[in-house]
Amino acid sequence: MAETRSATLTIDGKSYELPIHSPTAGPDVLDIRKLYAQANVFTYDPGFTSTAACDSTITFIDGDEGILTHRGYPIDQLAAESHFLEVCYLLLYGDLPSKEELDQFEGIITRHTMIHEQMHYFFRGFRRDSHPMATMVGVVGAMSAFYHDSTDVNDQKQREIASHRLIAKMPTIAAMAYKYSIGQPFMYPRNELDYASNFLHMCFAVPAEDYKVDPILSRAMDRIFTLHADHEQNASTSTVRLASSSGANPFACIAAGIACLWGPAHGGANQACLEMLREIGTVDRIPEYIERAKDRNDPFRLMGFGHRVYKNFDPRAKVMKASADEVLDLMGIQNNPTLQVAKELERIALEDDYFQDKKLYPNVDFYSGIILDAMGFPTSMFTPIFAVARTVGWISQWKEQLADPQLKIGRPRQLYLGDKLRDYVDISRR
Ligand code: SDX
Repeated sequence: MAETRSATLTIDGKSYELPIHSPTAGPDVLDIRKLYAQANVFTYDPGFTSTAACDSTITFIDGDEGILTHRGYPIDQLAAESHFLEVCYLLLYGDLPSKEELDQFEGIITRHTMIHEQMHYFFRGFRRDSHPMATMVGVVGAMSAFYHDSTDVNDQKQREIASHRLIAKMPTIAAMAYKYSIGQPFMYPRNELDYASNFLHMCFAVPAEDYKVDPILSRAMDRIFTLHADHEQNASTSTVRLASSSGANPFACIAAGIACLWGPAHGGANQACLEMLREIGTVDRIPEYIERAKDRNDPFRLMGFGHRVYKNFDPRAKVMKASADEVLDLMGIQNNPTLQVAKELERIALEDDYFQDKKLYPNVDFYSGIILDAMGFPTSMFTPIFAVARTVGWISQWKEQLADPQLKIGRPRQLYLGDKLRDYVDISRR
């Protein structure tokens, strides 16, 4: 990075020069890497609201303009023109593939979709009523117990194989977690089906009869995967990067990402949002929930609303809203009560000063659950589907970090407010 400017920090009369780096797009960054060594002070930023933890070339978000790009391509164009495996190639390798490159990549992914047969027994160790995210954390972490030939993060070939295995096997594992939770037999992946159709087939087909995937649902599923593929340094991606900084194997790092994504403030919001919309039930009950969301003494928040970065609108939510209309219409589901509540809730909230002042808009999770519900998924499968899609983002960021010559183990410091040094007191004198 060419350093052309710097900031001067003065502490107790002593000045320190902090280099300023300018990005391709977005805010400049203040380089504080030498600050502690020079000034014996830490910076303080719980929640990392003002902290760039790395440099990256993968995804760019402009929260004020509602812009999201992957390798420079706007998300709305990718959602409309591309498809998920092509977006996976773009995220992994930096450019849109040629036809030959795409055919080869899709062939590789297709042939990695089965999991080691012995892993089927893992599922039997879980209770049938386990949340599928609990199963996914366990089974994905256990991949490091089966795929030893792709756990050495210092071997480029092994990193490549692990990347392909994770992208290919996540839909299979998610579908198996679903089948296990409803007591149905597992369905094997089918090589003649595309990625999204394969996932739907593994979830909804049964051995007793043929199952034809509805192309409308397959296109909608593929678009949902694309919209969730990557999102800069969000909580779960940062978890994967931090886990990977210790040299942990890729399966363990992705399992850590799944665990973080599960939280209702993050990927768990799609499940929480649909459950909230169902709890509201009818349009006339919306004002009651809007008031609760505004009440600082009430922990209730509008799920699917608000975002750390987007302070205008989440471009993914716009595409998802249009897709919800299209899919429900094509499925002949008119006047879906949950969709009506969602649209009215959005309208009322966006006219309310509280939400305007705090710049709270629908995020990616606000409409996705309505589509997934219409497809026949239980709410417990919403976050696993998010995890399937985000795996390529986690992996792309993981690969980028491993290729960074500046890579160090991530080790933040703290503002210590505990007890001063004191001597041990024997129990007889306490
Ligand atoms: C995802 O980071 C990513 O990119 C994530 C993600 C991705 O693709 O990886 O985009 C996916 O996680 C989307 C977000 C899904 N989560 C939800 O929908 C849960 C509901 N939203 C909130 O919990 C919240 O908006 C967050 C967690 C998303 C963002 O929280 P921030 O940035 O820490 O903001 P904040 O909590 O400090 O809120 C600022 C103010 C607060 O009020 P004050 O304390 O200033 O008075 O806005 C209020 C909050 O109380 N607020 C809300 C609200 N979200 C924030 N009030 C009511 N309802 C909400 N949803």
